[in-house]
Amino acid sequence: MSSTLFSPIELRGLNLPNRIVVSPMCQYCVENGVVGDWHRVHLGMLANSGAGLLIVEATAVTAQGRISPGCVGLYNDETEAGFASVLKTVRAVGRAHLGIQLGHAGRKGSTAAPWVGRGAVAKADGGWDVVGPSPIPFMADWLVPQQLDRAGMDDIRAAFVSAAQRAARLGFEFLELHSAHGYLLSSFVSPLSNRRGDDYGGSRENRMRFPLEVAAAVREVWPSDRPMSVRINGTDWVDGGWTPEDAVVYAAALKGLGVDIVTVSSGGIDPAQQVPVKPGYQVPIAAKVRTEAKIPTITVGMITAPRQAESIVAGGDADMVALARGMLFNPRWGLHAAAALGVQVDYPPQYQRATPETWPPAKDSIAG
Ligand SMILES: Cc1cc2nc3c(=O)[nH]c(=O)nc-3n(C[C@H](O)[C@H](O)[C@H](O)COP(=O)(O)O)c2cc1C
Repeated sequence: MSSTLFSPIELRGLNLPNRIVVSPMCQYCVENGVVGDWHRVHLGMLANSGAGLLIVEATAVTAQGRISPGCVGLYNDETEAGFASVLKTVRAVGRAHLGIQLGHAGRKGSTAAPWVGRGAVAKADGGWDVVGPSPIPFMADWLVPQQLDRAGMDDIRAAFVSAAQRAARLGFEFLELHSAHGYLLSSFVSPLSNRRGDDYGGSRENRMRFPLEVAAAVREVWPSDRPMSVRINGTDWVDGGWTPEDAVVYAAALKGLGVDIVTVSSGGIDPAQQVPVKPGYQVPIAAKVRTEAKIPTITVGMITAPRQAESIVAGGDADMVALARGMLFNPRWGLHAAAALGVQVDYPPQYQRATPETWPPAKDSIAG
C-alpha cells in the first residue's frame, strides 16, 4: 500500500524517511542536569521505534530553567559531556535521526517530578528562585516568579544561543525551541501570564517580542543546513487567553525568521483550562496554522492508531505526527504501524527474524 506516513520528508539538509516523530518527554530522573544510564537505554530504545525523528525532552538552557531538580540540561561542560556519551551509544544502536528540544521553565521551574506531586520545591529542598514575564505564580501555592528585566532577558537569550551551539557541536540534526505549555517563552506570549507595561507586554506584538528575539538569535547560530522548529501553543483553552488566531500570527512571524516547521500543542498556562481531550484534539489547530501561516506543522496529542496518523498526513492536516505516550506504551510503534498499513520497512538486522514478512504471527501479536 502507498502510505503518506511512510513517505520521506525533507527539511533543509535533513532527509527523514517517514513522518513519525517521537515527541519530547521529560524523564525527571537525572542529577545536576546530566544524562546517564536511563537516557542511554530510553533513547536507545526509542531510536529503534521506527520513527524517523526522535526529539530529546525539554532540555534546560540554564540550571534555573529546569522544570524539576531531575530535569536534563545543556548549560555547562558536564551536561554536554553527558550527552556526548549517551549519543555515542544511541547512534551506535539506533536508526532515528536525533533532535533536541531546548527550553526554559520560567515560573513553572523548581517543581517536583509528577510522581512526587508536581508542587513547588522550596530552596531548602534543592529548589531555586524562578523568573517570568510578570510576578504571577502558575498556582497560588507555587513560587512567585521574579519579573525579568532587560538584563535578565539578555542572559536567557544568550543561554539559548550557547545551548544551541552545544547542541550543534553534539551533532543534533534538528532543534526545537519550547514555546508551549506555560514555560517561559509561552508565558511571555499569553496575556494571562504576561501583564508587563513595557515593550514586552500589552499588545500581541509586544508579547511575542522576546520569544521572537530568542528564536532569531538561535536561528543565527544553528547551522543553516539543519532545520529548526518551535513548539507553540495553539490555544490556552481559557477565555481571554491565547487563541488559534494568535498562533497563526506567531507561526508566520517564526517562519519569517527561518523557522522551518512548528509543532502545535496547547494548554499549560492556566489551571482553569478546559481541554476537550479526545483523539487528535489538536489536529484542527495544526491544520489552521499550516494553511493560514503557510508553514509545515507537526501535530501531537492523542494520536495512537496507525490509520489515524496516516489520515492526518494524507489529508494534509499536518506534515508530521508526533506521539508521546503511545511511544512509551509501545516503543516499536512505528514498526507496528508499518505492518498495520502494509508498508515494508527496514528492521535492525538483529530483529529481522521477527518482521511480519519473516514471521507472519507478528501481525496477530499486535492485533489484540
Ligand atoms: C512523560 C511525558 C513527558 C513530557 N515532556 C514533554 C517535554 O519535555 N516537552 C514537551 O514539549 N512536551 C512534553 N510532554 C508532552 C508530549 O510531548 C505530548 O505533547 C503530549 O503528551 C500529548 O501527546 P500524546 O497524547 O501522544 O501523549 C510530555 C508528555 C509526557 C507523557
